[in-house]
Amino acid sequence: MQIKKAIILAAGLGTRFLPITKSIPKEMLPIIDKPCIQYLVEEAVASGIKEIIFVINDSKLFIKNYFSPEKKDIKELKDRLKKTKKTAELKMIESIEHLAKFHYITQKEALGDGHAILCAKKFINNEPVAILFGDDIYDSKTPAISQLIKQYEKLKTPIIGLQKIDKKDSKKYGIITPEKSSKLPRNLYKISSLVEKPETKFSPSNLAIVGKYIITQELFRALEKSKSSTKDKELRLVDGMINYLKTDTIKNPHQIHGLEIEGTRFDTGDKLGFLKATTHFAKKRSDLK
Ligand code: UTP
Repeated sequence: MQIKKAIILAAGLGTRFLPITKSIPKEMLPIIDKPCIQYLVEEAVASGIKEIIFVINDSKLFIKNYFSPEKKDIKELKDRLKKTKKTAELKMIESIEHLAKFHYITQKEALGDGHAILCAKKFINNEPVAILFGDDIYDSKTPAISQLIKQYEKLKTPIIGLQKIDKKDSKKYGIITPEKSSKLPRNLYKISSLVEKPETKFSPSNLAIVGKYIITQELFRALEKSKSSTKDKELRLVDGMINYLKTDTIKNPHQIHGLEIEGTRFDTGDKLGFLKATTHFAKKRSDLK
């Protein structure tokens, strides 16, 4: 089954980026002149995604107003661009609305990324879906989600995006234990277990989970039956994966693979990560030289 839908999570509170996130969603902070979340939409679209479900909350209507503005709210701007013959600018802002078919769903309380994914249930039929966290951006030759979709098409298991990290940073990530298997290419791992934000001394590897996934319906169902594994009681996608692997049997194998994504990753939900992304993308822009 082809992957045509993506869920973009953007209902978190963004506490690492206070005070600006008091009123502006971190996903709408501009990297030069485009909100972070547009980089993700473009990544998804370049990976063949046709429908995007944004999980937002009531203070994130900025996102809806940007991708699906009411005609009346954008009329004055469009009229002015027409009048002043700024045709390229007009085309550019109109194209944003047509990048994909957009849906919006509200997560009433920030109960974790896993809970946020479950909020999108009504938009998902019995099909695999791509998940993108709203603050994890890659600059890569092949779009990050496209790299995961390619592996999904071969393996037909859930696929997790991975990045090698310095083990001292384990506490910030979910970490996988890779199964030793010589048959897989060097950047692909069969996952035997996962742990959320371990202390460095308990970290099973240096392979950290990033905010890009392909999930299947079986995994979605396991997530529905899962409980939080962390002190903060938030339900994370990782909890669903832990539960999914627990129910692996010979008759009904539950496997998850992880792919080290090729490219440069920026955690734009972090102040330094955001600045690095800004300078990186600015250097690549010919109009800023
Ligand atoms: P983060 O842990 O980066 O998000 O979640 P956060 O809670 O917004 O940020 P901090 O840590 O307080 O600064 C990863 C992704 O999951 C979404 C976030 O919007 C982000 O894109 N998320 C997280 C939700 O949609 N709902 C949640 O309940 C939690």
